[in-house]
Amino acid sequence: MSILKIAKIGHPVLLKKSEPVKKIQKEELKRLIVDMTHTLLDANGIGLAAPQVHINKRIVLFRSQSINDEENNKKKIEITPLINPSYTNNSDEFEDDWEGCLSIPGMLGKVRRFKKITYKAYNLQGKLIKKSVEGLYARVIQHECDHLEGVLYTSKLVDPKDFGFAEEVQNYLQNEKRNTKK
Ligand code: NI
Repeated sequence: MSILKIAKIGHPVLLKKSEPVKKIQKEELKRLIVDMTHTLLDANGIGLAAPQVHINKRIVLFRSQSINDEENNKKKIEITPLINPSYTNNSDEFEDDWEGCLSIPGMLGKVRRFKKITYKAYNLQGKLIKKSVEGLYARVIQHECDHLEGVLYTSKLVDPKDFGFAEEVQNYLQNEKRNTKK
């Protein structure tokens, strides 16, 4: 296993459309997913797409929030790899929220996403999976699928002003939002 180098905004690999994976049950693909898992956990991210580790293949993965593993008395995290993923929106409802990206470290931007989606993808066993999700995970999957199209969230900001260093955003913009809400 190894921790892979993450491409940062400005690197052309992030702007290229990725190719579908043709053969799923290959050792090479399993190895890549293991390495991507270690890379994601090391970077403390929530999702990672293959182009972010310089591979233009349609592979993304995301992690669950830590779940209490009562049996072993510790917290565990589940990683879900998605191969050749796609999604459709379940309604026309949108949600604007702040998101970050491991390729744009330290920054946050506000992006409009579908609130509820159904995604389809192959798992590592080559089985087609289909699942409906909403909120955070719907956002993560839309963000990761954008990476496969060579799209970064900075080109989808709700308003160009809705972008900045996480620290400043948390201090100012997110507070502003909270104040105008109630
Ligand atoms: Ni990203």
